[in-house]
Amino acid sequence: MVDKKVLEYSESLKKLGIENEILEHPSSKNIDEVVTSLGLTRSNSAATLIMKTDSEFVAIIRRDDCKLDNKKVKKILGIENLRIATAEEFTKLTGLQPGAATYYSPSIKKTLIDKKVLEKEYIVGGSGSFSYSIKHRTKDLIKIPGNVIVEIAEKSLITSGVKYSGKKRVLSGIRATGRLHLGNYLGAVKGMLELQDNPEYETLYMVADVHTITTPFDVKELRRNRREVIIDYLAVGLDPEKSIIFQQSEVNEHIELAFYFSSVTTIARMQHLPTYKEKVKQYPTHNTMALLNYPILMASDILIYKAGLVPVGIDQEPHLEVAREIARKMNQTYGTDFPEPKRFATKGEYIPSLKGEGKMSKSVERSFINLSDDLETIRKKIRSVQTETIASGKAFDKASGVNTLFELLRIFTHSEGNRDSVFFKLHQKYMKDRSFQFIELKDTLTDVIYKELRPFQEKRKKIESDQSYVDKVIKEGAEKARVIASQTVKDVRKKMGLL
Ligand code: ADP
Ligand code: TRP
Repeated sequence: MVDKKVLEYSESLKKLGIENEILEHPSSKNIDEVVTSLGLTRSNSAATLIMKTDSEFVAIIRRDDCKLDNKKVKKILGIENLRIATAEEFTKLTGLQPGAATYYSPSIKKTLIDKKVLEKEYIVGGSGSFSYSIKHRTKDLIKIPGNVIVEIAEKSLITSGVKYSGKKRVLSGIRATGRLHLGNYLGAVKGMLELQDNPEYETLYMVADVHTITTPFDVKELRRNRREVIIDYLAVGLDPEKSIIFQQSEVNEHIELAFYFSSVTTIARMQHLPTYKEKVKQYPTHNTMALLNYPILMASDILIYKAGLVPVGIDQEPHLEVAREIARKMNQTYGTDFPEPKRFATKGEYIPSLKGEGKMSKSVERSFINLSDDLETIRKKIRSVQTETIASGKAFDKASGVNTLFELLRIFTHSEGNRDSVFFKLHQKYMKDRSFQFIELKDTLTDVIYKELRPFQEKRKKIESDQSYVDKVIKEGAEKARVIASQTVKDVRKKMGLL
């Protein structure tokens, strides 16, 4: 059954005299996957970019094997500013999800069609759904109201799926060591959500279950926890329609590529990493090869998808440095085209522990608040944060419970320069008012946190009761990830003389 919305769109085109045919394919935001599954190449499809000029929104249709020349667009329209519409603007204008643009939207008054589109007899384009595309006779496209045919794009030399996938890729992962806590949420997941909703990016989010075996683990718990992380992802708003959500262990290629990467990485470099040293200290009898290889596997997770952006907390920076070094080494030595990935930072890139010292972490007891903690649990945890040793009005130590409380309140309620925020007012009160009571800070913070977590908890219950949906997400996510990962590994094998 074709989506009602897609049928309606197809009908509206017919009313304009634009003949069209609806084509079904596996749900995907990735243009290479879509054209491949339709038996086509990029030159047979075109994308609609909704852009904001000085004064209005315009649609630009360019073939998927071509690159838009912004300078030419500005010159033709006689404008100074040109940018891609934000996700919110896009949805408001078109009523569609970011990334699902159609050639025609009644709310857009001007549509620029690149000449190259018309070189083909037929061209495939968006339908408003990630599971369907629409095939049009190109000569009919000039029936789109307010269209102009212009020369604004050039054929891009890079056309193969591996080298170029129109969108910049994002990858992130969380180990399967338990349910998500506020540190994971504020430091990593918030960034994952932001990028998922940005149509410029193609996002891949995994549960790093293979990384979990680098420290002592329990087989049953690992199996349970990796599913819990996927359920947490879904409940927090990661959407399999927009992101590829998967389990690392389902894509064997990660491990294979990590081994190739280990050939350009020295043991000394790995032994000097602070993250490695900490773990050895924590588990002195488990100083394994797997632990030493941790950053190499992480580099493989990222580079196998050629991801340039990685939403993670600041503690992961040393690992990203290793990934950049490996990318450089591989490119120099074997002529691969790996990007040098950068961290995508959020406001909460470092969430301190409830105990004051160190970061909030799953592996430190009583340091964290889980996203699934109920109101009473949150209240109990926050109330037990140590504040007795500090007198109000005094500047507090970075490694103190008071700092953690204010830091959390700042992240949840404050934005730069806002003198009316809950955080600002309470902080002022703390500094000036001798009768300041920590219980006010603690209970305010409890309410603020619970308010943010409640919708998540309700959604989580719904997802928990539909385990077949979770199975489907895991299966389909792996299938999509494998398509990309296997291409990269094949290319590396060729370049290294193994194929
Ligand atoms: P944990 O240390 O609790 O085991 P992970 O190592 O699995 O957490 O981290 C998963 C993601 O969450 C990573 O991107 C990491 O940077 C982020 N993260 C974990 N703890 C914090 C924190 N306290 N503050 C900010 N980000 C964090
Ligand atoms: N090392 C990350 C952590 O402990 C988890 C991780 C594994 C990861 N592979 C990744 C994060 C790739 C980002 C990208 O949190």
